[in-house]
Amino acid sequence: MNDQAANLRKLAAQSISLNSEKNTHFIAITSGKGGVGKSTISANLASVLARGGYKVGLLDADIGLANLDVILNVKMRKNLLHVLKGECSLSDILIQISPNLTLIPGDSGDEILKFNDKFIYERFLSEASILDGLDFIIIDTGAGIGGHTQLFLEAADEIIVVTVPDPAAITDAYAVIKIASRFKSEQFMLLNMVKNESEAERIFNNIKRVAASNIGSGLKLELIGALSHDKAVSRSIKTRTLFSIDTPASLPSVQITEIANVLLRKMEQKVLIGQNRNSFSSFFKRLIDQF
Ligand SMILES: Nc1ncnc2c1ncn2[C@@H]1O[C@H](COP(=O)(O)OP(=O)(O)OP(=O)(O)O)[C@@H](O)[C@H]1O
Ligand SMILES: [Mg+2]
Repeated sequence: MNDQAANLRKLAAQSISLNSEKNTHFIAITSGKGGVGKSTISANLASVLARGGYKVGLLDADIGLANLDVILNVKMRKNLLHVLKGECSLSDILIQISPNLTLIPGDSGDEILKFNDKFIYERFLSEASILDGLDFIIIDTGAGIGGHTQLFLEAADEIIVVTVPDPAAITDAYAVIKIASRFKSEQFMLLNMVKNESEAERIFNNIKRVAASNIGSGLKLELIGALSHDKAVSRSIKTRTLFSIDTPASLPSVQITEIANVLLRKMEQKVLIGQNRNSFSSFFKRLIDQF
């Protein structure tokens, strides 16, 4: 038995309490600098949660080079924009990756949010109920706070800001945290491509200290976990597979599963406190209403 298998069982054991709420948790994965691992993390986190028994949607809100279609080895022909233009239905664009994991091809939001045909929009919202049963929607956003990324961050329940140890990436991550602190008083950080856990903690504590003195005590910044720099991850991109499936015993696989566990514990606490019911259509309403 490896650590990941045991951890996956832990995930599954928790699934009952979240499911009973019929509430979709929207988790935005974002960063300041590009290329820090957002898509890799989004896809693997979504897959780990799905294998733990949760129903997960993975929303591609970025158009970059190596994105979710490449990582998951699928072709995305049409996306949410086509649905909002009335060219196809929502069910036409969804791609079933595995029994519990659905890819929702989006775009950066720039085009989507320009589109405001009320009739089609209403139809879209009613169609969106086919995604109502999801426990999680993981949103892979574009890098930086520009464009409409900010709207996705505002509409999401949780934000995970990814950075790598490189000073330029840390500075850019801090800039995102600062802007996002205007509308999110709680944010998570994920340190990717680290040498070890202590490097991750050292970097995180520095950012936290700067944030506390410049942004103030109103912001609760938490380290959700770290992923080691590991060949298993870079190799998986080349073979278009998920490292958490390919190499379940590798350190990054154990780490991403642990991150999923931490996330679940946080979500469970929020469910206990009692949040509003949330769905894909209510998320989209929030997104459009801000615009
Ligand atoms: N922990 C890791 N160890 C080794 N390589 C990694 C790790 N995480 C990510 N990578 C590699 O870094 C590259 C960038 O990753 P990815 O495409 O996920 O970043 P991104 O933040 O989504 O980029 P973009 O901003 O362009 O969308 C990929 O080649 C990926 O394999
Ligand atoms: Mg990406």
